[in-house]
Amino acid sequence: MIHLKSEEEIKKMRSASQIVVEALNTLKEMVGPGVSTWDLDRMAEEVAIRRGAKPAFKGYSDYPGSVCFAINSEVVHGIPSKKKILKEGDIVGIDFGVILDGFYGDSAITVPVGEISSLAHKLLQVTEESLLKGIQEASPDNGLFDVSRAIQSHVEEMGFSIVRSFVGHGIGKSLHEDPQVPNFVPGNTSRSNGIKLKPGMVIAIEPMVNVGNPDIKILSDGWTAVTVDGTLSAHFEHTVAVTDKGPVILTQ
Ligand code: MF3
Ligand code: CO
Repeated sequence: MIHLKSEEEIKKMRSASQIVVEALNTLKEMVGPGVSTWDLDRMAEEVAIRRGAKPAFKGYSDYPGSVCFAINSEVVHGIPSKKKILKEGDIVGIDFGVILDGFYGDSAITVPVGEISSLAHKLLQVTEESLLKGIQEASPDNGLFDVSRAIQSHVEEMGFSIVRSFVGHGIGKSLHEDPQVPNFVPGNTSRSNGIKLKPGMVIAIEPMVNVGNPDIKILSDGWTAVTVDGTLSAHFEHTVAVTDKGPVILTQ
């Protein structure tokens, strides 16, 4: 069931989302060679608590951290660790969410550690562009798969691949609500356009893009998703409200 949000509720979701933005900005500034994902996780939690919010992922399905990281060929859901130390040339995905006043906000960025390869740079650029192209389609009367198609087309035109095993999601009083938001047009029915988008829907759009094959596997820690072929992967996410004036990025 899709929960439509009132203006008041969207306001609350924006407040939660702005704390996520503050935390991601703080972490982005901290990122550099020698910094551990543990240090970054501590800081994100500190920002959330300072603002009266609670980290959303900690304890969700027993996830042990506050932030999900993804270094290089990791796709998503890497657990923070003192042993995971960033080095020059890495790319690191940082995915964070909070709950404030009963509502969630969720966003992710992938950032370079020092100087990165031109391939890595291109991957970050294309993945973020695909997210923005998807968001542009999140308007009333468009179908949900207009969002999916915009993301998929851009990524594939640029020669990269869309991960199929994870999708975006509705968000509100729960971190994950209906509808699922695929970053690809499901099945081979190019005619189906998915559900109609309506004012008051709030969705987390989150493309995960691999340089090589789209396949992923989960490591023995039960969480970390990595590319099967070992190529680089990137992830960007925004929480977006569908309004009668068009899409509004709450995690801007
Ligand atoms: N942002 C991710 C998502 O939307 C991370 C949540 S996974 C968790 O699904 F289990 F760690 F919370
Ligand atoms: Co999400």
